[in-house]
Amino acid sequence: MKQRKILIAPSILAADFSRLENEVKTIERGRADLVHVDVMDGHFVPNISIGPAVVASLKKRTSLPLDVHLMIDDPWFFLDAFIAAGSAVITVHVEVCSLAMLKKIRKKLREHKVRFGVSLNPHTPLKKLWPIMDFADMILIMSVQPGFGGQEFIPGVLPKISSVRKKFSGDIEVDGGITSTTAPLVLAHGANILVAGSYVFRAADRKKAIASLRLCKK
Ligand code: DX5
Ligand code: ZN
Repeated sequence: MKQRKILIAPSILAADFSRLENEVKTIERGRADLVHVDVMDGHFVPNISIGPAVVASLKKRTSLPLDVHLMIDDPWFFLDAFIAAGSAVITVHVEVCSLAMLKKIRKKLREHKVRFGVSLNPHTPLKKLWPIMDFADMILIMSVQPGFGGQEFIPGVLPKISSVRKKFSGDIEVDGGITSTTAPLVLAHGANILVAGSYVFRAADRKKAIASLRLCKK
């Protein structure tokens, strides 16, 4: 099977928002590959986080690609704003988009050379993903209920990762409860991008934490 590069995407949801520039610099120095930005609207998930203005500010302060995860009911309404803000990847949830909407979003992202991700919650049936396999750049499999950082990884999602990998040759990102213990499991099941919030930002040494995720593949 093709070996994919393992990419680490620390989630700034676990960072100190009062000093975001410094926080992002620490993961840049720690050799992170992407900055994962969790956008929450208080409807799709029971929490509110950050919007396009923060993404645009971050874009000016980091050279890392911004991996924007939209946990919002109406991604189409906000799509232009997140494109203009400088997102490198925009991921929307399959639970709130029809197939026609996903295609419309993909078309616009392609026009702006932004990568297109589709995400699936832990309890959403996999069959929702099959129609989009041919045109997504990335599939993001949630391994916790979206809304909050610091939750326990749900091991029941591991077979889902393998099933997606059998049919999908693009990037598979896993998000929620990723640590040096759970990372080898998701990598062994076929994922290649790891989102990690608490594990990286609460570590005494963030560089070591990032390296421990990258190097843990058997
Ligand atoms: C959850 C978010 C995750 C979360 C991950 O809704 O999508 O990105 O911040 O945080 P940890 O790594 O702490 O589980
Ligand atoms: Zn996320």
